[in-house]
Amino acid sequence: MTNQPANTAAWISRKHGKLEVAAAPSTKPGPDQSVVRNQAVAINPLDWIIQVEGNLTYGWLKYPTVLGADVAGEVVEVGSAVTRFKTGDRVLAMAVGTDKDTNTGAEGAFQRYTVVLERLASPIPESMSYEDAAVLPLAVSTAAAGLFEKHRLGLRLPSASARPTGRTVLVWGGSTSVGSNAIQLAVAAGYEVITTASPRNFGYVTSLGASLVFDYNSRTVIADISTALQGRTLAGAISFGTTGAPACVKILANAVGKKFVAIATPPVSFETLGEDSKSRFERARVTRRLIASNIALQVAARPHGVGLGYIFGSSIKNTEVSRALFQDFLPAALSEGRYVATPKPTVVGRSLDDIQSAMDRQRHGVSAAKLVVSLSD
Ligand SMILES: NC(=O)c1ccc[n+]([C@@H]2O[C@H](COP(=O)([O-])OP(=O)(O)OC[C@H]3O[C@@H](n4cnc5c(N)ncnc54)[C@H](OP(=O)(O)O)[C@@H]3O)[C@@H](O)[C@H]2O)c1
Repeated sequence: MTNQPANTAAWISRKHGKLEVAAAPSTKPGPDQSVVRNQAVAINPLDWIIQVEGNLTYGWLKYPTVLGADVAGEVVEVGSAVTRFKTGDRVLAMAVGTDKDTNTGAEGAFQRYTVVLERLASPIPESMSYEDAAVLPLAVSTAAAGLFEKHRLGLRLPSASARPTGRTVLVWGGSTSVGSNAIQLAVAAGYEVITTASPRNFGYVTSLGASLVFDYNSRTVIADISTALQGRTLAGAISFGTTGAPACVKILANAVGKKFVAIATPPVSFETLGEDSKSRFERARVTRRLIASNIALQVAARPHGVGLGYIFGSSIKNTEVSRALFQDFLPAALSEGRYVATPKPTVVGRSLDDIQSAMDRQRHGVSAAKLVVSLSD
């Protein structure tokens, strides 16, 4: 028996299509899944990137489908093997409906009811609003994938009592949503963090635990960070923003310690893909630039022994990092105030109809902010 009344979703019905709100099926959870009645969803660059790029990197998507990765809401039904949650629990969860191995609208965030994996969900502390909680799932998962997965930086896991490791992590783009989580997670694992941000966000990133911050737009930023790293032992770099990966390669070339850059943002911007993205020429141009910039990165990195690896935020669902994050670390860290849900939500809508405009607004850029659509009852 399902406890779900009728579902409604903000559908994307075809490549490049705008979201349209319409009825959606109610889906029963699999054994290791729960159904969540969403009370808030957050917007990520990935949502509009999929919409504007069509099939550049998500060519497997079956349309119509439901986008969105961040949900916060109430559990209304649990699968037969679920042990950590029961009906009525307040949870935050990463929705993975656009993953290649999932590829189903039922697991997208932008609807009233989303099917989520137990291992990608955490309880929300009583004192935390759904809007605050919704900022976390994809951002914290992506940061954790880059920092803790063995084939990325492979850092020690975060805990309540991490001893200082004496090593430093470079977080390029600390004021991004994912970067804000990378700073907190690395500090909680016992690493010193050096980061970059615009000067207006220096106070913000240091409040999260970064010990040094540099302006990524400064002409001397690479030299300045390289100087700061003298006498320090690096544990690796994690990079957000299109200029991050090439800059990190140059910095790591002369650093001491682990020379590996975990990359979340390719060195090519998808923001240039406008309506023209429907044209084969525009997509071909971006594809060529993607290939060329990745070759250039490899050519710059290899002679200096710098390793490179792209992050895929939801890859943690298949590694031990999901349990370490969503089960062992986040619940206590959030409820004890050792970890903050940040950047703070900017609530830009109150219904599924508002999600398209929220995605458009995210595409125009945010600064140390997360756009959230509240769906509260
Ligand atoms: N691979 C994955 O699985 C995955 C998952 C999630 C996100 N991502 C990617 O990771 C990046 C961050 O995502 P997000 O949601 O955290 O972004 P976001 O919060 O929307 O990013 C906004 C921030 O980007 C900063 N920024 C802009 N250009 C930058 C640059 N060149 N270097 C450093 N910082 C820069 C700005 O900092 P200031 O305001 O301080 O100037 C601003 O605060 C995006 O490129 C996103 O597509 C990848």
